[in-house]
Amino acid sequence: MVDQKTPADAAAPVGVPALRERLTRRKPVEKLVAETSDGTGLQRHMGFWQLSMIGIGATLGTGIFVVLGEAVPVAGPAVVLAFVLAGVTALFSALAYAEMAGMIPASGSAYSYSYATIGEFMAWVCGWCLMLTYGVSVAAVGVGWGQYIDELLHLTTGLSLPGAVLAGPLEGGVVNLPAAIVVLLSMFALLAGVRESSRVNAVMVAVKVAILAMFVAIAITAVQDGNFAPFMPMGMAGVSAAGATLFFSYIGFDSVSTASEEAKNPQRDLPRAIMFSMVLVTAIYCLVAFAAVGALDWTGFVDGETSLAGILTLVTGTPVWAVVFAAGAVLALASVVLVVLYSQTRILYAMSRDGLIPKAFSTVDAKGTPRANTVITSVFIALLAALVPLGPLADATSIGTLFAFALVNVAVLVLRRTRPDLPRAFRVPGAPVTPVLGVLACAYLMFSMSPSVWAAFGAWLVVGLAVYFGYGMRRSALERVPASGV
Ligand code: ALA
Repeated sequence: MVDQKTPADAAAPVGVPALRERLTRRKPVEKLVAETSDGTGLQRHMGFWQLSMIGIGATLGTGIFVVLGEAVPVAGPAVVLAFVLAGVTALFSALAYAEMAGMIPASGSAYSYSYATIGEFMAWVCGWCLMLTYGVSVAAVGVGWGQYIDELLHLTTGLSLPGAVLAGPLEGGVVNLPAAIVVLLSMFALLAGVRESSRVNAVMVAVKVAILAMFVAIAITAVQDGNFAPFMPMGMAGVSAAGATLFFSYIGFDSVSTASEEAKNPQRDLPRAIMFSMVLVTAIYCLVAFAAVGALDWTGFVDGETSLAGILTLVTGTPVWAVVFAAGAVLALASVVLVVLYSQTRILYAMSRDGLIPKAFSTVDAKGTPRANTVITSVFIALLAALVPLGPLADATSIGTLFAFALVNVAVLVLRRTRPDLPRAFRVPGAPVTPVLGVLACAYLMFSMSPSVWAAFGAWLVVGLAVYFGYGMRRSALERVPASGV
């Protein structure tokens, strides 16, 4: 490789790679795969159903239980269409994930795929964005959980939690205590071992599918044709804006890929589990949204305050079903916190193993649990959940995820050209058109987000760059290894 030396490189000691070489060095796919099966790290014990449960568990959450109520005033009855728009965008990326996860079953997910294809720098940017996807979304879901705890308390006792402990300082409270508590409880579950956690998760998935089915069965009896007219009161702009917000509700299927090092047969089961989770979740969302706006005129949705439990009370005239629903939602959202927190620790594990963040994040105990990683990550997220409101957390999650998903589509395109020889358990149909459409769909939703979300995203990236150039680039495990291409 011919490199132009920069002043910084000129000062580098002999043996240290040049800057451009460092930024574009790639981790060979074979090395990634070999690392996952060296027997020294995480244990392989999950089959197709457990992987699917991780995907569904991480996806069905605050998006449908809470954010739906915020999106209806933006799109009107066409919120169903907004779900389809966000779902199609997510589906493109799910296809790309399925191909990558089947080929590179490494726990770093999109981060690992980028490392193998585009190079270390973009892999770092991707990993940094995934901290929004996972870490920040755990905080967002924790906040949604707090709302349902309050709702349940109110429905059963008539009391409400004091505002000071239900919202952080930006919303006039002091600290969002329930949100922080659910994150810390999940930390203890993960520390007790992922085997137990994934069983708990499977039960919780069953609970939330059951209560959402109950919601649809009840609300659909009250659907009135008139509630769908006018269908698009805010036009396509409203649908796009709601779609960008609702994209949050699809995040999570990718969690399946972060469990790849614990999968018994990752090449076969990861793609199947990802696609299965996506299709099931999309069907559930469209049904729930249809039933919700069909039963309650869209103008009756007060920004962020109309919950699905509230609709049940309106339709049936009794709080009984709403209590069942809210109790289920409390359990359900806790399961999302658990699964997504799990995924965040696995991505940090992969980044640490590559030397880009401190080794403490990849040290595992005798049972294979990354303890320090789990504790540090959880405490940080608990603080975030305690202090920041749901809206900004959900939007930051969406924009970071859209960026990371776009990179996964790019990774598919790159590897199809550079490594056509690699065995692929699943191939994205219609490539290269489909992954290109995937990138464009992600970009479309990103540009539907407000300038303040972009500003927060930009600030996050600047911090990420500082960490990479100040730490990761010099500590990278590839620092003294000749750069390799794929
Ligand atoms: N998709 C997840 C949720 O809606 C993040 O809670």
